[in-house]
Amino acid sequence: MTDIYDPAFVKDVFDRCGRNYRWWSMVASFGFVAIWRRQCVSALPPMPCERPHGVDMMAGTGEVWGPLIRRHPRIASITAIDISTEMHRQAVARLHRSRSDRIRHLEIDALANNLPTGTADFLISTFGMKTFNAAQHAKFAVEVARVLKPGGVFAIIEASDPEGWPLRSLYLFHLEKVLPWIEYLFLRGAQDFAMIGQYTRNFGDCSGLAEELRGQGLEVTFRRHFFGCATSVAGRKPG
Ligand SMILES: C[S@@+](CC[C@H](N)C(=O)[O-])C[C@H]1O[C@@H](n2cnc3c(N)ncnc32)[C@H](O)[C@@H]1O
Repeated sequence: MTDIYDPAFVKDVFDRCGRNYRWWSMVASFGFVAIWRRQCVSALPPMPCERPHGVDMMAGTGEVWGPLIRRHPRIASITAIDISTEMHRQAVARLHRSRSDRIRHLEIDALANNLPTGTADFLISTFGMKTFNAAQHAKFAVEVARVLKPGGVFAIIEASDPEGWPLRSLYLFHLEKVLPWIEYLFLRGAQDFAMIGQYTRNFGDCSGLAEELRGQGLEVTFRRHFFGCATSVAGRKPG
C-alpha cells in the first residue's frame, strides 16, 4: 500500500504540481492562504536580535518571504528548506533581486537536515505540516527546538479540520469532492492537489504539534484562524 507520508512520495507530488502550486492554492482557498501566511508572520514573537538569521521549513515557492521581509526588513538571511526540486525552481524563478542575496536554498528532507544546532534566530513554516504524520511531527518538534538559539522564536501554520464548525461538512466537501473535480478538469486528469483533503482530515489541527513542541521545552501559543480552517503554533525557546 502507498505510504502518503513517505518523503519520496511527497517529493514526487510537489515536483509534479509545483508549476501550478501558487495559483491553485490561492483559488482553492479563496485567497485565505495569503491571509494565513500574513497571520503566521504576525504570530512570530519579537525577533531576538537586530539582524536575525532564520529558517523557512517546507519553504515551497517562498510565498511567505514577502510578508516576512516586509514586517522584518532587517532579516539578514533565510535558509529555505524544501524536499522538492520543482518547488525550489519556482521559488528561484520568482525571487526578486532585492531578496535573492538573503535566501539560501537547501533541497533536503526537513527531518534529516544538517543545520547546525542552536543557530537560528527564527523559524517559520507555512502549510508544511499536513504531509507529516504524528511520528514525523514529534521529529519535527525536536528539530525546531534543536536549530533555534536560546531566545529564538518560531511560528508555524497549517490548514486544519475545523471540528465543531457548523459549516465543517461543506468545507470538507469542497476539499474532498469539489477540488479534485476542478483539478481533474483543468489539469488534464491530475489528482495531486486532490490529496489535500485526505491530508487535512488526517492532520486534524496543530494541537498535537503544540504538545510535541512543549515537550521539547518551548513556550507555545496555539491559535485558531477562521473558525479553525487553519491553526497555528508560535512561541519561543527559553533562554
Ligand atoms: C503545501 S507546500 C507549502 C509551501 C510554502 N511554505 C507555502 O506557504 O506555500 C508544502 C511544501 O512542503 C514540502 N515538504 C514536504 N515534506 C517535506 C520534507 N520532509 N522536507 C522538506 N520539505 C518538505 C513540499 O515539497 C512542499 O513544497
